[in-house]
Amino acid sequence: MITGNYPNLRLRRSRKNDWSRRLIQESSLSSSDFILPIFLIEGKNIKQPIKTMPDVYRYTIDKLGIILDKAIKNKIPMVALFPHTKIKLKDKLGSEALNENNLVCQAIKYVKKRYKNEIGIMCDVALDPYTSHGHDGLLKSGYVLNDETINVLIKQSLLHAEIGCDVLAPSDMMDGRIGKIRKALDSEGHQMVQILSYAVKYASSFYGPFRDAVGSKGLLKGNKKTYQMDFRNSNEAIREVALDIKEGADMVMVKPGMPYLDIIKTVKDNFKIPVLAYQVSGEYSTISQSIKKGLIDKNSILESLISFKRAGANAIVSYYADRIEDLIK
Ligand code: PBG
Repeated sequence: MITGNYPNLRLRRSRKNDWSRRLIQESSLSSSDFILPIFLIEGKNIKQPIKTMPDVYRYTIDKLGIILDKAIKNKIPMVALFPHTKIKLKDKLGSEALNENNLVCQAIKYVKKRYKNEIGIMCDVALDPYTSHGHDGLLKSGYVLNDETINVLIKQSLLHAEIGCDVLAPSDMMDGRIGKIRKALDSEGHQMVQILSYAVKYASSFYGPFRDAVGSKGLLKGNKKTYQMDFRNSNEAIREVALDIKEGADMVMVKPGMPYLDIIKTVKDNFKIPVLAYQVSGEYSTISQSIKKGLIDKNSILESLISFKRAGANAIVSYYADRIEDLIK
């Protein structure tokens, strides 16, 4: 591969000037590469800080304009909606997930009415914001039931689709759910609703701040290792993606992000499907807090985000998405 030798070849030659460095850039970032997660909270006129996530807030529906106007102006293609559910609305079955007036449903209606198709809406398909035990599905003797959970996820998917959600994102890791959800969507007339599968989701310690943000921190009984992947594995990621593509996924996600750049690359090398990376809450807060402490500087944010593009990701879910324009400048 290497043609030429020092002193004829000096790689520092092309690094000398800014114009030249720009000329040979292999990856770049723009707002169009991002999905912006938004946390929702019940009430009126509240923009509530989240202790574990610096500069990230929970918004009441009437305040969504603040963050959406800016996202649309900056050409962010899509937002992901996550509800903070009051503890008294949580139960063993996650029933609130199927309430057509729950926070996510209210937000979908609000955004679609006000912004039409100016921005896409993505919603997680999983029960963890709604269950009293914090698991993504129905629990029996400490084990998350697969097929029974899928039946509820199908109902949740149809509800979101009927209200106007553009992209359903099953984040539950049940076997076979993509195919069953696709089939249900099609038979109910939602052929154009997309599925973004969290195909490769690891049982990770980096989700901590998110669980705080949606109010499931402290509730989780045990861990999610019987359905989320073991972080020691990568062949299994290929099998997960292959299955989800066969079942009808339009896009696949790898999650978390930075500790799994090898997986993003492996998936991209093996499948020509849009691959998304999720820079999760623990990554976000670790970087943000290190910047606040002066351990690293602000450019570390762009560096972390470019790594996903270099690895082959088509887009990135990141809590920095709403500030990306300022960072690029
Ligand atoms: C729920 C879900 C989780 C995240 C996104 N959807 C948490 C989990 O599986 O426990 C994590 C996102 C983040 O940490 O930023 N299924």
